[in-house]
Amino acid sequence: MTPGRKKCLYVLGTVLLYLAMIGMNHRDKEEEPARTVSGQNIKIEKNQEEASYEERKRVALTFDDGPGESTERLLDGLKERNVKATFFVVGEKALQYPKTIKRMKEEGHIIGNHTYSHVNLNSMSCETAMEEVRRNSDLIEELTGERPVFLRPPYGECAKKMKKELDMFIVLWDVDPLDWSVQNTGAVTASVLSDVRDNDTILLHDIFDTSVDAALQIVDNLQKENYEFVTVEELMFP
Ligand code: NI
Repeated sequence: MTPGRKKCLYVLGTVLLYLAMIGMNHRDKEEEPARTVSGQNIKIEKNQEEASYEERKRVALTFDDGPGESTERLLDGLKERNVKATFFVVGEKALQYPKTIKRMKEEGHIIGNHTYSHVNLNSMSCETAMEEVRRNSDLIEELTGERPVFLRPPYGECAKKMKKELDMFIVLWDVDPLDWSVQNTGAVTASVLSDVRDNDTILLHDIFDTSVDAALQIVDNLQKENYEFVTVEELMFP
């Protein structure tokens, strides 16, 4: 082969190779990217949906012993944050703050029963204890048009007989920062944030300003961590 012919073949080969590469590139641009890009998009969207579903955590805020002077401020803060909570109210307090009780109901919160005069249900006969609960339910029904179905007995205990005869759901709690004793917004907030887990019920008392502030800080923090605030009803019957 002469050097001239060799060079000619070399150039021809290079040109053919170049054309082949352009052809492949062209096909890539026309077909592959379209399919790959849309395929990737679908996959990304699906992954995001799965992740957000898996990461969704639920928690219930519950408030005992109110209403009190700070409760309206709490209701304002919950409304601002689109949060529904559960209030275990005491009959004697409900009589003092009937408008607050009505507002709770209007704004979608659950009103539970915490007895009429915050008695220790263990220290009395079952009949008297049930009367304490019934009397409070009568009052709440009178104020809101709805009889409570959730009961939080003061001091945690309640006879099985009572549960059966009153046909109510007893609601206890998982997270208790002892806010009534601590009465310090930062400490109560920190305690709840370190203890809380998915599906927990948090116990606070809306009769303390410090607890109201803590509740709103807890909401702000946990909402950032993908927690959804639900009522005890939603937590018990998802
Ligand atoms: Ni109490």
